[in-house]
Amino acid sequence: MSRYVTTPIFYVNAAPHLGHAYTVIASDVLARHWRQRGEDVFFLTGTDEHGEPVALAAEKLGVTPQALADQNAARFQTLGPRLNASEDFFIRTSDPRHVQRVQEVLERVKANGYVEKGTYEGWYCPRCADFKTESEVAEGNRCPIHKIELTREQEDNWFFKLSAFQERLEQLFADRPDFVMPPRSANEAKAFIERGLHDVSLSRSKLRWGVPVPWDTDQVVYVWWDALLNYVTALAFAEEGNDQTDTYWPATFHVIGKDILKFHAIYWPALLMAAGLEVPDHILVHGFLLMKDASGEETKMSKSLGNVLDPFEIIDKYGADALRFYLLREVSFGQDGGVSVDGFVTRYESELANDFGNLASRSVSMVHRYRDGVVKSTSVDPEIAAIIDPLAATVAEQIDAGAPSAALETIWTGVRRLNQYVEEQAPWAIAKDPERADELDTVLTTLIDGVRVVALLLYPYLPASTAALLQTLNPGSEADFSYDAAKLRGEFGFAIDKLEPMFPKAI
Ligand code: MSP
Repeated sequence: MSRYVTTPIFYVNAAPHLGHAYTVIASDVLARHWRQRGEDVFFLTGTDEHGEPVALAAEKLGVTPQALADQNAARFQTLGPRLNASEDFFIRTSDPRHVQRVQEVLERVKANGYVEKGTYEGWYCPRCADFKTESEVAEGNRCPIHKIELTREQEDNWFFKLSAFQERLEQLFADRPDFVMPPRSANEAKAFIERGLHDVSLSRSKLRWGVPVPWDTDQVVYVWWDALLNYVTALAFAEEGNDQTDTYWPATFHVIGKDILKFHAIYWPALLMAAGLEVPDHILVHGFLLMKDASGEETKMSKSLGNVLDPFEIIDKYGADALRFYLLREVSFGQDGGVSVDGFVTRYESELANDFGNLASRSVSMVHRYRDGVVKSTSVDPEIAAIIDPLAATVAEQIDAGAPSAALETIWTGVRRLNQYVEEQAPWAIAKDPERADELDTVLTTLIDGVRVVALLLYPYLPASTAALLQTLNPGSEADFSYDAAKLRGEFGFAIDKLEPMFPKAI
């Protein structure tokens, strides 16, 4: 089965921050998990380079928008590798191969009768690059997200006939209750549709930095259409000479933050329908990372609000695994959640270092202490197998349903149960009685096998540390990451390595 997972593409007018990292990490967990299950996965991320903010910032700096985009895109290109994300391609919307394909799709939309000339008059948020409908305007004519005053815009544009899709979108949401997940976000999108859809600008006449409208080169394509189309255009040119659209389109999951729901849940399927393309399987919506601002109030973490944690600093100090784990554990996926340095350190120490790291190192060191490092092949404790073996199926179901935090909690029940097993069995006491040698072997094999299985399940979240652990437990050959191996088997009969401390205390 093929799966296609995407992140939103990032505006290049700001530096990467933790909110961006969060989206990438969640998407990467899905991608890695499906690859473990042997599925054919394509994982896309990239940068959204056109539009007003970039043009204005470039003007201020006295450089061309392309030069500024090149410089800032490079910072986002380092984000994935630093997070240990496994993207297959990084798209930049200023890439001429994208530009050309955006033009082709829009020509088709026009030929199908969904484009007309008109005049836009209304509110506009330059930060969201969003034409706000009256119901989206906050008090004082402000942007509900950025809190800045909206500008009143009037311009002659080409329009996309969104209103023509009123019924088809209602039908889509009625037929596919999980098109947008979680249900709260689906309901929000449905309510927007029910208020009645209006046509939206397809182009901007006041801007030069963008994709030229092919039939009217005095105008550029409104940046959101250009940006959304990245999800299809990328497949055509990600691999030189191999158009992969048929293999991967429609996308399995577009992972997005809740602030860009309207574009993905409403504009995007309508545009695809207008172009005669299939709509994606799911839009998977996450909440905001919140952080206390100067007044002590928890608000959306954002560069412009001045309350950001730098993902690169955390990675330098604790490694990417720790950051990946923290974000998916602390902020229940789909909801908003507060993050802080203190909260990070607490989870790092109590869950990563104590619950998981300590379980692994105790288990490995007991094998060295009592059995010279050799794990016997034995039958495993059936009570533990009954708890650990079903985890893989539950985790797979939860990931397929777009719930990576719930899946992580499922795995953690296994980690906790194994810790409890150590306490219950007290192998150090059994080891004192030579008559109980077989019993000790069963306990040690069960433990090591249990650690192996939870490490396998944790691999998408903690790719570096679990890979090292799995190698330690199987030093003679290549570690087996496949999902089929996520069951207790008791098959050893060889010596394991010693384990380096997995999550050392930071200095
Ligand atoms: N360029 C558009 C997306 C176009 S997709 C066709 C955009 N870019 S962005 O850089 O502003 O944001 C990218 C993603 O980061 C969004 O999904 C947004 O929700 C997410 N985050 C930015 N700040 C965030 C938090 N504080 N918390 C969680 N995610 C947030 O929007």
